[in-house]
Amino acid sequence: MTVAALPGALRAEYPLLQTCTYLNSNSTGALPRAVEGVLAQYWNTMRAWRDDTWDTWLSQMQAYADGVAELIGAPAGSVALDTNLSAHLSRLASCLEFTGERRRVVITDLEFPTVPFIWKGFARYGAELVVVPSKDGRVDEAALEAAIDERTRIVCVAHGAFATGAVLDVARIARAAHAAGALIATDAYQTVGTVPVDVRQLDVDFLMGGAHKWLGGSEAAFLYVRPGLLPTLRPAVTGWLAGASPLGFQQTTDYAPDARRMMGGTPAPLMVLLSRPGLELLKGVGIQAVREHSLKLTGRLMARADAAGLRVVTPREPDQRGGVVALSFPGDARVTARLVARGFICSHRGFLRAAPHFYNTPEEVDVFMDALLEEQRKEVA
Ligand SMILES: Cc1ncc(COP(=O)(O)O)c(C=O)c1O
Repeated sequence: MTVAALPGALRAEYPLLQTCTYLNSNSTGALPRAVEGVLAQYWNTMRAWRDDTWDTWLSQMQAYADGVAELIGAPAGSVALDTNLSAHLSRLASCLEFTGERRRVVITDLEFPTVPFIWKGFARYGAELVVVPSKDGRVDEAALEAAIDERTRIVCVAHGAFATGAVLDVARIARAAHAAGALIATDAYQTVGTVPVDVRQLDVDFLMGGAHKWLGGSEAAFLYVRPGLLPTLRPAVTGWLAGASPLGFQQTTDYAPDARRMMGGTPAPLMVLLSRPGLELLKGVGIQAVREHSLKLTGRLMARADAAGLRVVTPREPDQRGGVVALSFPGDARVTARLVARGFICSHRGFLRAAPHFYNTPEEVDVFMDALLEEQRKEVA
């Protein structure tokens, strides 16, 4: 689809858009109406239950994982699924040794809270956390590089920061990590689905993300693993599905050769089935068109904020920002709450965050900013 055609007829696929002005896809993306059919199908399956449904479900889950792999430039078999990113990160951390000199984990202070919380938990196994501070809503790549050395086991940084939308030059950080003999994982929850992401270009060892924001799905999170690393990974946080032949139901003796070795126990297929229509719609449009549309709408939002003298926390340069615009001004939390009450859906995480997606229109951005400025003026009156 060309960017000029967006959002066009696509809007009709998302019933939520008819109920409000929805600029909240960085938090929870709108679900397409095809999800209703998936739920009906699920109930039909359950009320006529047979155990061989698991064969169908597992192959449908694999097809979804491979569909995500294709979106991020990864080969089939390199992506594992779980319900959330926390499960993936814990499992990946459980593959690593934190003994001897090389026991440091380098993160930034812009990570989603789950990331430092998990790594702090691994301190009991020897992990030593190094937190690189941000300045004005973004992390300086040179400061991050300086924190990486021969003591670093892994660098674990967000590609797009959840609070500010700042995008990190992960390819540059990957070069520094690899030069120091360390691994690199990136949390791309805030970029995959709104920014083109290619694991070959980023050259990361692990990339995590999930469906329920920019991919218009449900609680289906994914983990990409560099294929060459797979044979070396032996997660302690594991489950029977990670075994070489899980459906043989014998004692598990070895891990699956592909990314399934990074899965756990009984999965949640419904969440994956619910996430498929959103992924297909997005891939049908094409991520380049999605990105161009996003830059157009977020640029418009920033220009309106600038004209009104509001502080834009999100970096200006297109290659340094994702799909969200973070604004900071006195009373921004109260303004967020009043906007939501009026049907202008956005969120607050330290800043007011507005996040248009490929199904939003420039007119929606304008009415949203009109309402925001009206509410903001009440704060200064
Ligand atoms: C950058 C980022 N990482 C992770 C998450 C979520 O982590 P989890 O799937 O473990 O809840 C979010 C948002 O919910 C996020 O914005």
